[in-house]
Amino acid sequence: MNKKVGTLYGIGVGPGDPDLITLKSVKILNRVQVVFAASSTKNSHSLAVNIAKPHIPETTSIRMLSFPMTKDEKETRKSWAENAGIIINELIQGKDAAFITVGDSMTYSTFGYILNHIKASAPYITIESIPGIASYQAAAARLNTPLVEGEESLLVTSGVKGGDRLRQFSVKPENVVLMKAYRNVEDIICAVDETGLFQDCVGISKCGLPGEEIVTDLKEFAIRPPNYWTLIIAKQKKKVTPPEAEHRIDRPHRRQAEPILEFAGSM
Ligand SMILES: C[S@@+](CC[C@H](N)C(=O)[O-])C[C@H]1O[C@@H](n2cnc3c(N)ncnc32)[C@H](O)[C@@H]1O
Repeated sequence: MNKKVGTLYGIGVGPGDPDLITLKSVKILNRVQVVFAASSTKNSHSLAVNIAKPHIPETTSIRMLSFPMTKDEKETRKSWAENAGIIINELIQGKDAAFITVGDSMTYSTFGYILNHIKASAPYITIESIPGIASYQAAAARLNTPLVEGEESLLVTSGVKGGDRLRQFSVKPENVVLMKAYRNVEDIICAVDETGLFQDCVGISKCGLPGEEIVTDLKEFAIRPPNYWTLIIAKQKKKVTPPEAEHRIDRPHRRQAEPILEFAGSM
């Protein structure tokens, strides 16, 4: 007799605050038998697990899957195949499983690789992706700064290779989000400066997490490089009349926020 194959749920658990997880995700986390999360090969920390922990029953098995941080494509593909195999093995035993990721499950997420691999290698498996609040959406809300308005456009790009991705666009949008702005940050700042368009730039690290920092003078990142959980929102100046000076409160350049959670993780 054929055993029923379980369903895989790809869940984005939001950027940090455990209250910023969807009700749908919480319901699924309450009923799946296994929760998978990515960690590096160096340790088994998972920020996604720390965020989702309050919503995962104690009896649920949490399994860390290690993914190497390497540029070796062969090694990377090998780890996707191995980790997809581990997940498939649970599903074919009839268990439902969730793969949790920080922020949104469809935005620069390890789940994307697992999803593509399982779709290709085991197309009989049912996969349901549940969106989460992306870090840049949470950052915009944290800063009380609309991301896009009216007819404006938004470019979301990676800062891993410094400012090159931004330089490549001949038509610059009114708003840019630079994710993974932890490496080559000086070059990112140069690229933002080169365009001469983005007068309103803010960096935010660990949004909604202990140690959250909001940096309004990006040059500070050149002195003290930001951590992995950092993104930059750059906006063109609006042609609107600013409010009267006496109603404005100037923001300090570097602001440490009250911790919301009492944990630290790396992935
Ligand atoms: C691998 S991507 C994951 C993106 C995630 N899936 C999302 O939807 O936000 C990692 C990058 O996301 C950004 N990020 C994720 N969580 C963050 C947070 N709480 N505060 C600031 N940036 C964050 C950083 O730019 C980090 O380098």
